[in-house]
Amino acid sequence: MPSTVRTRLRLAGALAAVLVAAGIVTGPAAQAHERPGPGNPRATLAELAHRHGRYFGSATDNPELTDAAYTKILGREFDMITPGNGMKWYATEPQQGVFDWTAGDEIVALAREHRQKVRAHTLVWHSQLPDWITGREWTPDELRAVLKKHIQTEVRHYRGKVYSWDVVNEAFNEDGTYRETVFYKTLGPGYIADALRWAHEADPKAKLYLNDYNIEAVGPKSDAYYALAKELKAGRVPLDGIGLQAHLALQYGYPTTLQDNLRRFARLGLDTALTEVDVRMPLPATDEKLAQQADWYRDLTEACLTVRRCVGVTVWDYTDKYSWIPAVFPGQGAALPWDEQLAPKPAYRAIREALS
Ligand code: XIL
Repeated sequence: MPSTVRTRLRLAGALAAVLVAAGIVTGPAAQAHERPGPGNPRATLAELAHRHGRYFGSATDNPELTDAAYTKILGREFDMITPGNGMKWYATEPQQGVFDWTAGDEIVALAREHRQKVRAHTLVWHSQLPDWITGREWTPDELRAVLKKHIQTEVRHYRGKVYSWDVVNEAFNEDGTYRETVFYKTLGPGYIADALRWAHEADPKAKLYLNDYNIEAVGPKSDAYYALAKELKAGRVPLDGIGLQAHLALQYGYPTTLQDNLRRFARLGLDTALTEVDVRMPLPATDEKLAQQADWYRDLTEACLTVRRCVGVTVWDYTDKYSWIPAVFPGQGAALPWDEQLAPKPAYRAIREALS
């Protein structure tokens, strides 16, 4: 090869390295999720998070998977996927002993296609239960058997295919007392340790989480998780992490003790994750509210990056087009980083800044 060509190649290589380092273009090192096409020269959220040893995820749901513009961004920007509904009890065991994996499998298959991991959600929860559970009384022995079978059948089905499980969801009240679910009332607080042990038996490699909302800040509810986690660790119960849903709302203020809270769980030897992030606001959205929302997204992303063992951030879907908020909190919405037209909002740019 003539030396002038070699020099030019070396210069081109050096220039490329500088551009990569500056985050202007991405290099082969960012691998799996790197698809900088002509229209998309920039690193994705997943790539940016990967540089910090974190993931950046999104929830999704089966009905919206027919929206090609939607799935394109879903497949490109994220490296972790959570099924918003498809793995819940009502979907997976609609009749006692009759299991249906259709919805969950579809999402796992899509995630695999895009080389994304899956945060599986959720095994034990008081909400979205099938009628056959809520419609009758159970003896402790009966319900224990039902719970064990549900957990182990589902976890075995997805064994080797998911990164983690939200084993128990929303176990505590705001004041830190146990939520009086059918499981608590029938089985007592020990149902949580049992659920974790059964899940671990069925898939020893999956990371097992307890997950809840309003536990971002230090307070009675997160204190209850801290105390329980400590007890479970002391009893060698297989618990790997605490999921903080982070369904935030501008009108309630930012959880300023988030970092301290994440840090205390890390000190217990636990992973943490922000698992269902959205930042809702009273509608209509204004530039000012969207700017404040962007600040919150920046801050919560930075909090996770700052704290050892905060493994990643998942938004509860990425676009306002498919957010659960307007249906559940009337008059509120605009909670996600992409708008209803799938255009990135200030929050999207703020997340990028935090990750860059
Ligand atoms: C929500 C889904 O997004 C909705 O589609 C469904 O109608 C209700 O549940 N906390 C959780 C999630 O752990 O499972 C919930 O998901 C949102 C609150």
